[in-house]
Amino acid sequence: MNTNREQLAYLINGIAEFSAIPKEQGITRESFTKEYRGAVDFLKQYMTEMGLSVREDSMGTVYGRLDGTLVGGETVTSGSHLDSVREGGRFDGIAGIVTAIEALRAIKDSGISHRYPLEVVVMTEEEGGRFNAGLFSSRAMTGEISDKELTETFDRKGISMKDAMIADGLSANPSDAVRRDIRSFVELHIEQGPVLEQAGKEIGIVTGIVALRDLHVSVTGLAGHAGTTPMLGRKDPMVAAARMISALEELASGYGNGLVLTVGTLQVKPGSVNVIPYEVSFSIDLRCILDDAVEEVAKQIEGLLSGIASKQGCGVQITEQFRKSSAELNGDIMKRIEEAADAYGYTQMRLPSGAGHDSQILAKHVPTAMIFIPCKEGRSHCKEEFASTEALGKGADVLAKVLLGLAE
Ligand code: HGY
Ligand code: MN
Ligand code: MN
Repeated sequence: MNTNREQLAYLINGIAEFSAIPKEQGITRESFTKEYRGAVDFLKQYMTEMGLSVREDSMGTVYGRLDGTLVGGETVTSGSHLDSVREGGRFDGIAGIVTAIEALRAIKDSGISHRYPLEVVVMTEEEGGRFNAGLFSSRAMTGEISDKELTETFDRKGISMKDAMIADGLSANPSDAVRRDIRSFVELHIEQGPVLEQAGKEIGIVTGIVALRDLHVSVTGLAGHAGTTPMLGRKDPMVAAARMISALEELASGYGNGLVLTVGTLQVKPGSVNVIPYEVSFSIDLRCILDDAVEEVAKQIEGLLSGIASKQGCGVQITEQFRKSSAELNGDIMKRIEEAADAYGYTQMRLPSGAGHDSQILAKHVPTAMIFIPCKEGRSHCKEEFASTEALGKGADVLAKVLLGLAE
């Protein structure tokens, strides 16, 4: 059973055509946009032509199904997300989609019969880039999405998720998208870190996925004229925020256990050169494989930021945006990945995932595992993101073997 490197390259390049920005800036493909719809239609056509039965559910998740001998049996699934971060790369999420498609084609062409049906899953809004509603498809599949979330979640233009979905031709009915017939889920993903490449390993067997906590911090102060307000006595939220951000970096760097903290966004109001701002707000993305560590540091952050705010004569408000606990992955499927890599003579190692994935939602409901492939210098979420066709091919070989074993 051999997967086809040319087909993988064709799919990666084909999907990359659907982006809101010029190629040289990277890829921006946010959920329920016209470029996202273009990529969905491209994949639907490709999967239909290769003989899968294709459908899109009420929430925008797309399935490509290869029936087994068992009619209506539980489904062995594999896939990842089609949406990207802004100015992201061509492989994040996409690697898992194209290798799942190629694995099903190799299984189908091999003529080897399998009892359980196999499905490619093309997921949306995993990044949360447009609506801040990350891990969306997997939460929809597992019944975690409510109509309230759809109507009360807005993008930066104030469009609700529900309106965007309906404009995209979806019924946006959460209950129609819930799956209770999934037997297992395997997601291939680029590592998005340097470990595999530095260790010279071809296949990563993911042991677990980090806990994640997203916070929003709003720092308020006294607006004023940049020229006439003496330095002494200013209540400047920009200075307070700057002190907070550097203190947060020190806290995280000194904590250990692989904990990471990122301030990725900063908004200034009113944001004029000659005005002392009245509000500065920023995001905190906090992650660690240990749930308790995230809990402990989130508490420390509250004390740290309120201390700095009062010293600067400013106010501070911290609101939690998103939290996901860490996820253990399935030992049996990890073993299958190990054996499949061995069978091909591919080098391998076990490692945790510092990135969040839909697998961490599905892992709470069905046996779930992840396969990592190396990416160049571990770079991701940027236009430099790169995985070789060879690495994709080796990942697809292993994935095909694992999926066939799970469906037999
Ligand atoms: O943020 C993440 O870890 C993932 O790329 N959504
Ligand atoms: Mn990502
Ligand atoms: Mn991803």
